[in-house]
Amino acid sequence: MGIQDVLEKLEKEDSEQREKNLPKEVRNRSLTRDSGKFLAMLCRMVNAKIIVEIGTSVGYSTIWLAMAAKSTGGMVITYDIDPKKVEKARDNLQEAKLDGVVTFILGDVSDLPETINLAFFDQEKKDYLRHFKLLFPHIRKGGVIVADNVISHQEELQDYIGHVRSRPECNSIQIPLGKGLEVTYRLRKDELDAFWQEPLIISGRKSSQTFPNAFFQTKLCILELDKQADY
Ligand SMILES: C[S@@+](CC[C@H](N)C(=O)[O-])C[C@H]1O[C@@H](n2cnc3c(N)ncnc32)[C@H](O)[C@@H]1O
Repeated sequence: MGIQDVLEKLEKEDSEQREKNLPKEVRNRSLTRDSGKFLAMLCRMVNAKIIVEIGTSVGYSTIWLAMAAKSTGGMVITYDIDPKKVEKARDNLQEAKLDGVVTFILGDVSDLPETINLAFFDQEKKDYLRHFKLLFPHIRKGGVIVADNVISHQEELQDYIGHVRSRPECNSIQIPLGKGLEVTYRLRKDELDAFWQEPLIISGRKSSQTFPNAFFQTKLCILELDKQADY
């Protein structure tokens, strides 16, 4: 079976399960084809070598990520807590001959790689923010986190969306594909200038320099105050 055949088989399975109104625990709950295609494009655009997925299910999205990993010379590490789904995902990736670039991990997020270029979130919505905080220190500068369902589950994901958009070291934007993708980009050091602000007023005079974000502004303030204490 070729990759496209496996993708089509899983798309058919997913739509039949939805038509039958099966409970979500037994459905594949795959992302849409356009979202899968976009994810694969994004991995290629950032030349992602280490790709992490949370929420493997039966491996539909994993196939898109693995296709991209094959072309970047990278790998996919994918987590799921449901043993039956992980077993099916292994079979599907094997069928698509992409299992060589994928590591399946049964369980919640653990043993993360030191650095990650791209992470994809498609687990239970209540875990998005917790997982973001766990993963973020591992995301490379210039790396990306993509979260699915931000339109379909906007209310449930309000905390997550608010958090990623308020982080000064990130740019985050919603892409209206499928169920809605929130794409959060971790800025490189030299890109933080997007956040340069008005000069600070320190002890009644303008500082000669502006600094990129609240963190650096606070540092500057402390430095200036220390200097004054020395005189
Ligand atoms: C929406 S489905 C994923 C669909 C898959 N990404 C796709 O597009 O083909 C959600 C999956 O997340 C898994 N899951 C739920 N909580 C999880 C957690 N804390 N860690 C890892 N996987 C989790 C569920 O078992 C389920 O298989």
